[in-house]
Amino acid sequence: MASQRIPHPHINKPQLYAVAGLRTHSGRITSNVLPVLRPWLPSAAEILPYLEMIDAQRWYSNGGPLVTRLEQHLSTRLGAADCVVTTANETVGLTAALLARRAPEGSFCLMPSWTFVATPHAARAAGLVPWFHDVDPGTWALDPEAVSDTVRRLPGRVGAVMVVSAFGAPIDIEAWQNFENDTGIPVVIDGAAAFDTVRASRIPIVVSLHATKILGAGEGGFVVTTDPELRDRLRAACNFGFVASRRAMLPALNAKMSEYHAAVALAGLARWPSIRAQHVQITEWYGAAIRPLACVALQPGYGEGWVSGTTSVVLPGKSAATVADILSRCGIDSRKWWGEGCHAQPAFADCPHGPLPVTEELGASVLGLPHFPEMQRPDVERVTDVLAAALYSRSIECLAERVSG
Ligand SMILES: Cc1ncc(COP(=O)(O)O)c(C=O)c1O
Repeated sequence: MASQRIPHPHINKPQLYAVAGLRTHSGRITSNVLPVLRPWLPSAAEILPYLEMIDAQRWYSNGGPLVTRLEQHLSTRLGAADCVVTTANETVGLTAALLARRAPEGSFCLMPSWTFVATPHAARAAGLVPWFHDVDPGTWALDPEAVSDTVRRLPGRVGAVMVVSAFGAPIDIEAWQNFENDTGIPVVIDGAAAFDTVRASRIPIVVSLHATKILGAGEGGFVVTTDPELRDRLRAACNFGFVASRRAMLPALNAKMSEYHAAVALAGLARWPSIRAQHVQITEWYGAAIRPLACVALQPGYGEGWVSGTTSVVLPGKSAATVADILSRCGIDSRKWWGEGCHAQPAFADCPHGPLPVTEELGASVLGLPHFPEMQRPDVERVTDVLAAALYSRSIECLAERVSG
C-alpha cells in the first residue's frame, strides 16, 4: 500500500467530533450512535400467513411443510433438484456435514484460523482436531495448493478440510473439487455469510440464516450438496441418525430446523430482491468513498457482483484497534469480526497450527464498519470521513476547518 500513514493516536477530540458531525446537522455533533449492524428480519405481519399455516397443520418440526417448501425454494434458486437440507443453525450444519462426510474421529480438520470460532467448534463437535492453516492474502481464504502441500508434509492424519468463505466472498469450488479428487480428503465449505454467492456443488456448502446474515431466520442454516447419497446421510446426521426408521444408523445430532424458523426464512425470501438491492447500494457507496483513500483497502472482491451484509476494510500499520477506538469516540460502532484469528482464542490455544503471518496481519488490520440495510449515503459518508480524518491528520484539520469556517 502506498503512502502509509500511521493513525495519529492523539488526535484532537473536538476536531474528530467535528468531522463525525460534518454530514449531519451543518457541522453539529450528532448524538446518534451508528451501529455496526442492525438486523432487520421480516415483520410480524409478513410472517403471520406462515404462522397461520402452522396453526392449521399443527406440524411444528421434523420436516414439516414449511421446511419442505423452504428447501424446495432454495433448491430451485440454486438450479438443482432437492439439493438443500435446512438446519437449526449453521454451526450444527457444519458438524452434521463433517459427520456425513465420515471424517475419522480424532483426525485433523484443516481450516483457516481466519474465521469465526463457530468453524473450529463445529469440527470439535464432530470429534475432529482443528488444525489452523494460514490464508491467501489475495482471497482471505485457504489456497488449495498450499493446503495440498501442507497435507503432504503433515505427520498425522488429515480427515477433512473446512474451507471458509471470507464474509461471503465466492469460493473456487472447482479447485476444491480437484483437491478432493487428488487427495481423497473430504472438503466442507463454511459459507456462513455466502447466501448471495452459494452455488450448487457436490462439495457441501453450509450457509447461516442467523439474524445478522443478509437472509435471516433468527437462527437457522442450510447445507447444499448435489450428491444425493451425501444429502441423505446429511439428513440422517441432522436427525439422530435415523434413515428410514427410528433406528440410529450413524453418528448424529438433532440439527433440524423448526417450522417457525422456516416461516421467517420464507417471509424473508419474499423480500430478498429489495434487501439485496439495499446491500448493493451500500457496497457502492463504501466502494466509491474508500477506493480513493490510498492507505485503506477493501476486502478482496468487495463490490464485484456480490453482497454479504458486512463491510471490512484493511487499515495501515496494524491499526484496527486504534481506528476502532477513534470511530467509537465519534459515535461510530465497528467490529473486529474475527478478532485476531481462532488460534488466539483461549478455547483453541491448544490446537496445532502452521505459520500464520497473513492471519496475524489481517487480525491486526481488518475492521468491520457499520453496514445495515436501511443505511443511507450520509451514514456511509460519516464513517468514511472519520476514517479518512483518523488516517490523514491533515485532512482532519481541513475538514474541521470547513465545519468551523
Ligand atoms: C464463518 C462463520 N462460520 C459459522 C458461523 C455460525 O453460524 P450460526 O450462527 O448460524 O451457527 C458464523 C456466524 O456468523 C460465521 O461467521
